[in-house]
Amino acid sequence: MAGWVLGIMGGSGLYAIDSLSDAHWVSVDTPWGKPSDELLTGTIGAVKCVFLPRHGRGHAIGPSHLNYRANIDAMKQLGVTDLLSISAVGSLTEKFAPGDFVAIDQFIDRTFAREKSFFGDGLVAHVSMADPVCPRLSTLAATAARAAGARVHEGGTYLAMEGPQFSSRAESHLYRQWGADIIGMTAMPEAKLAREAQLPYALIAMVTDYDCWRENEAPVEVESVIAQMHSNAEKARSLVENIARSLPAQREVSPIDTVLEYALITDPAARN
Ligand code: ADE
Repeated sequence: MAGWVLGIMGGSGLYAIDSLSDAHWVSVDTPWGKPSDELLTGTIGAVKCVFLPRHGRGHAIGPSHLNYRANIDAMKQLGVTDLLSISAVGSLTEKFAPGDFVAIDQFIDRTFAREKSFFGDGLVAHVSMADPVCPRLSTLAATAARAAGARVHEGGTYLAMEGPQFSSRAESHLYRQWGADIIGMTAMPEAKLAREAQLPYALIAMVTDYDCWRENEAPVEVESVIAQMHSNAEKARSLVENIARSLPAQREVSPIDTVLEYALITDPAARN
């Protein structure tokens, strides 16, 4: 058993964490290129935290242009043991209303213009994505979000679309028929790469809109997303503080810490 280092990937509207002590921004380089921004490191109580604004401070990098591999690699380089992702999303179901938080447990990946693996060139690995989220981290995050005053749902399927345009009505209806509850543009390949990096990953999705499937309701626009994000942001910051303070003093190992033991398929003699 060892200590926790909590990584936080902040989405739209979450560009810094003010509850960090000894906070400083650190520049990290990776073999995959530059992450979205410097990473903010510091502590909350006894726990080291590493925060990255996914789109960069000022939100200058769109979902298809994020360097997902560099973002995950930078977290690993700074010693992160567990990664909590926080994202603004649309809702595809009446169950989840704007302002609600959802602890996602499944994904449908419809992205197509992104680098999705650390492997495949000289070293081949096939990690399992059957259960893409770490249940331990997800439960801790849901509890922390509730303590922050949010209405929290545990379980939901997130459809990752390429964007940057929002969906057509036909697409929105199709995704509902597929059983998706939530739509967003960034959780994939982030969750896949976290798994390849042996990082337990959880995602708290903050609902900002009903996308465009609902009759008699204006389709989603950036303006309404931003307005809802502002009212969610304070709860998101408090969620981060709560989860860090709720972590047990010692971190028990997770099966996700060692997934590559069963995933590498390249013959050791052929590896380069
Ligand atoms: N992010 C926030 N709302 C969204 C929506 N309706 N579709 C895709 N991404 C979103």
